[in-house]
Amino acid sequence: MNAGELGENVPEIAYINGEFMPLELATIHVEDRGFQFADSVYEVMRTYNGTLFTPEEHMARLFRSLSAIELEHGFTVKGLIGIAEEAIRRAGFAEAMVYLQVTRGVAQRHRGMPPQCKPTLVMTVRELHHPPPSQWENGLSCVTTPDNRWGRCDIKTVALLANILAYHAARKAGADDAIFVGADNTLSEATAGNVFIVVRGKLRTPPKSPRLLPGITRDKLLEASQAAGIPSAERTVTREELQAANEVFLSSTTNEVAPVTTVDGRKIGIGKPGPIARRIYEQFLQMFARP
Ligand code: PDD
Repeated sequence: MNAGELGENVPEIAYINGEFMPLELATIHVEDRGFQFADSVYEVMRTYNGTLFTPEEHMARLFRSLSAIELEHGFTVKGLIGIAEEAIRRAGFAEAMVYLQVTRGVAQRHRGMPPQCKPTLVMTVRELHHPPPSQWENGLSCVTTPDNRWGRCDIKTVALLANILAYHAARKAGADDAIFVGADNTLSEATAGNVFIVVRGKLRTPPKSPRLLPGITRDKLLEASQAAGIPSAERTVTREELQAANEVFLSSTTNEVAPVTTVDGRKIGIGKPGPIARRIYEQFLQMFARP
């Protein structure tokens, strides 16, 4: 039995380049290119019932990100999943979130990619709590904001400053989150999640493109909606369609399905989390998250 099962104060666990340690002791070199340039990609995984949820999908996306930034490495899917599972076991939380980051490694600061660089592999494990009940009582308030990010939002890079600023501005304005809208007036995604709308019983989400992260929860919710007999389409959504939708919700690994009940200060539907979001979420839990 480990410390987590005993209900003790379990240390959060970190893993850096082959070594496990308490999170508070984990440090990175100041000339790590992840720190200097955000020359780095990441994944956020979670457990359901103590077991990693869709690890192969997360690894496939990580390997796509690594190859998109031409980061050469010797990692294998099996090896990385093994480390994540070991870290979860050592931490012993009932439910855990695993953060995994790969940087190009340590080199003297220069924008050129160093020819011989050993990637830095970091993982951290934290306890994952259920989203607060208020998520399904009141829903979130969102504002729309111009999408001023770079043109490769499909790569899961740690260069998230635009997301941080948009989220901060939303919070300062009294909202919970921001949804990015491009110059063509169509939305891409929220600051840390994909966006879905429901119009007359039909689910819609912007198509995969370089403008948004291909969310794994997004894919699974589309599968769940099909299983629940709810029609869906991957089609662009304008700001006006978002504001006039019957339901809106965000999706992400850690927050699952987060209903949005106001956009830009206007109520969505009757201003309460909607029945279709709830049905798709229930179906999702039944298909992927229940033992
Ligand atoms: N969110 N879009 C952005 C910009 C994100 O940061 C995330 C993930 C998503 C949803 O992807 P997925 O369903 O694979 O988690 C979309 C953070 C990391 C989270 O997990 O909460």
